[in-house]
Amino acid sequence: MEQALIRNFCIIAHIDHGKSTLADRMMETTGAISDRERVDQLLDTMDLERERGITIKAQAVRLRHRPSGGPEYQLNLIDTPGHVDFSYEVSRSLAACEGVVLLVDAAQGIQAQTLANVYMALEHDLAIIPVVNKIDLPSSDPGGVAGELIEAFGFKEDEIRFVSAKTGEGVEDLLDAIVEEVKPPGGDPAAPLRALIFDSKYDSYKGVVAYIRVMDGRVCSSDRLHMMGTGRESEALETGFFSPALDRTDALETGEVGYLATGLKNVRDCRVGDTVTLASGGAHAQLEGYVPQKPMVFTGLYPADGESYPELRDALEKLHLNDASLTFDPETSAALGFGFRCGFLGLLHMDVIHERLEREYGLTLIATAPSVSYLVRLTNGEEMEVDNPSRLPPPQEIVEILEPWTDLSVVTPARYIGGVMELVTGRRGEHVKMEYLQGATAATGRDARVLLEYRLPLNEMLVDFHSQLKSRSQGYASMDYSLCEPRPADLVKLEVLVNQQQVDALSMIMHRSDAQAQGRQLVSQLRSLIPRQMFEVPIQAAVGNKIIARETIRPLRKNVLAKCYGGDVTRKRKLLEKQAEGKKRMKRIGQVEVPQEAFMAVLKLDRE
Ligand code: GTP
Repeated sequence: MEQALIRNFCIIAHIDHGKSTLADRMMETTGAISDRERVDQLLDTMDLERERGITIKAQAVRLRHRPSGGPEYQLNLIDTPGHVDFSYEVSRSLAACEGVVLLVDAAQGIQAQTLANVYMALEHDLAIIPVVNKIDLPSSDPGGVAGELIEAFGFKEDEIRFVSAKTGEGVEDLLDAIVEEVKPPGGDPAAPLRALIFDSKYDSYKGVVAYIRVMDGRVCSSDRLHMMGTGRESEALETGFFSPALDRTDALETGEVGYLATGLKNVRDCRVGDTVTLASGGAHAQLEGYVPQKPMVFTGLYPADGESYPELRDALEKLHLNDASLTFDPETSAALGFGFRCGFLGLLHMDVIHERLEREYGLTLIATAPSVSYLVRLTNGEEMEVDNPSRLPPPQEIVEILEPWTDLSVVTPARYIGGVMELVTGRRGEHVKMEYLQGATAATGRDARVLLEYRLPLNEMLVDFHSQLKSRSQGYASMDYSLCEPRPADLVKLEVLVNQQQVDALSMIMHRSDAQAQGRQLVSQLRSLIPRQMFEVPIQAAVGNKIIARETIRPLRKNVLAKCYGGDVTRKRKLLEKQAEGKKRMKRIGQVEVPQEAFMAVLKLDRE
C-alpha cells in the first residue's frame, strides 16, 4: 500500500474507559468483522483477559476506511494493555505508531493512567486525538471532561471528539479524524529492510511469530532474516496482517504493520524491541529498541503436593514463551520443598500467572508472600540483589540495604484527599505536589479533582495498597507509578518459628519500625489459620535472635468422623476425601501441618 494511505495508531486509555469496546466498534464500522462474528472485545483473546475484562497482551488489527469521496486508507490499530503493571507494553506499542486516540470516560474524567499515557505519547512525539467516550451514559458529563482535557493538556475545544463506543455514535467521524490528523508513516521504501518487533508470540506450527512495524524497505515471505540484536538468522515462513484473523500476504511494505512468522524456536532469539533486517544486503544501524523490563515483584511458587515440580517447570517455560517479562529460577525451601522464585511486572501480573498455572495447567500451588528486590551492600565490598527474604545475609555482614522507591501519582476527587494522604504517609510515603485538574468542573458542579504526587517505597505498595486507595475514595481514585532512585533503609528480616522450627517461606523483609506490630499480628493470624494439632504448638516471630511475639495453639485431636455415628460408608468416605483434598494444600513443618492460607497471611496484615 502507498505510504500516504497508511495510518498507524493506538488507543490509550485508563483501565475500563472503553478501549476494547471502541476497537470492536471500529472493526464493525469498517467491516473488518460482521455482526455475526462479533464477540465483545474481540481483541482481548485470552480467556482470562475476557473474564477479568482487562487487556494484557498487545494485539494489532488492520482496518480499511474510506472517508466520503476519498481513497481507501489502511488503518493499523495496535491495541494496548490498560493496567499499570503493563505500561511498559504501552510504550512498545507507541513506538510502532504515528498517532494515538486518547480515550477518556465521560463519567469519570481524567485518571492517573490517562496522565501517564499522555506523557508517554508526547515523549514519542505522536499526534494525540482526545476523545470523550460513553456519552450515552446518563451519568456522563462530556462537557466537564472536555474542560479537564483542555485545562490539563492544553487541547483546543474543537479538537475534542465525542463518541459512544457502545452505540457507535461518533465512531465514523473519529476514523475520519485519524486519517486527517495522524501523519502517514515515514521511512524509505528503497532502503534495506528495518522492522521493529513490538510483540511476539509462540506458535507451534510457525515458530515465533513477530508482530512488526516495517520502518524501511520491505519483507517478503521466504526472505532470509537477520535479527540485529540477537544475531540470529532464519527463514521467513509467512508474512501477513490481522484482519483480525491472520491474513497472509506476499510482503509487508514500508509503513505497514503485520506479522512475520520467523520459524525461530525460542522467543528469546526474537526479542521484542529488536530490529529485523535481511541476512544479505541488510541494514547497518539498528532502530532504537527498548530496554528489557525488569520484574518488580517476586514470589515463590511451589507445587502443593511436591510431586508436580516437573509439570510446574514445563508450565512456566510455556508461559515464558509468550511473556518474556515473567522470570523464574529454581529455589528450594526447607518448608515447601522444590519450587521456583518467579518475578513479575506487578501484583496483577502475578495473580494472572498464578491463576493461569492453576487453571490451564491443572496445578495446585502454594505461593509465598510477594517481595520486592533489594540491593544489599556487604561488608566484604560486594553487592547482591535479594528478592527472597530468606536469602538476606545476617545483619553483621550488611553495610546497607537499598530498597526500590516509586514515583506515585494519584488522581482523586478533592474530598478524598485526606484519606489518600493518610494512606500514603502511613506507609512511609512523601508528599511531592498537589495540583487541581480544574476544567469546567465549577460550571457543571462536578466535584473538583486533584492530582497528588508522592514518593513511596515499592514494598509498601505490595500489600493491599490499591484496594485501600479504592475503598478510601469510594472507588474514585486512580493511581499510576514508576520506579525512581532506590534509597537506603533501616530494614530487618522478620522470621517466623512454628513449633520452634524456623519457616523460611514465611520470612519477610520490613522496616524496623513496623516489625513489632506486624510480627504480633502475623503470629496471631497464623494461630487462627493453623489447625490445632494433637500437641501444643508455639508460634513465634523473631528479629535476629530476639523473639518479638508469641502465640500458642492449644492441642486437640481433629477427627472428621467424630460426628459420623453409624454406618453410612459413602458419607464417611466423602468426608475423608474432602479432608485429603484439603491436605494437598497443607505443608508439613516438623510435625505441624500448615495450610496454604498461612503462607499468604502477610497479605491480610493490617498496615494502618
Ligand atoms: P481494559 O481492556 O481493561 O484496558 O479496558 P478497556 O478500556 O478496554 O474497557 P472495555 O472496552 O472493556 O470497557 C469497559 C466497560 O465499559 C465495559 O463494560 C463496556 O461495555 C463499557 N463501555 C465501553 N464503552 C462504552 C460506551 O460508550 N458507553 C457505555 N455505556 N459503556 C461503555
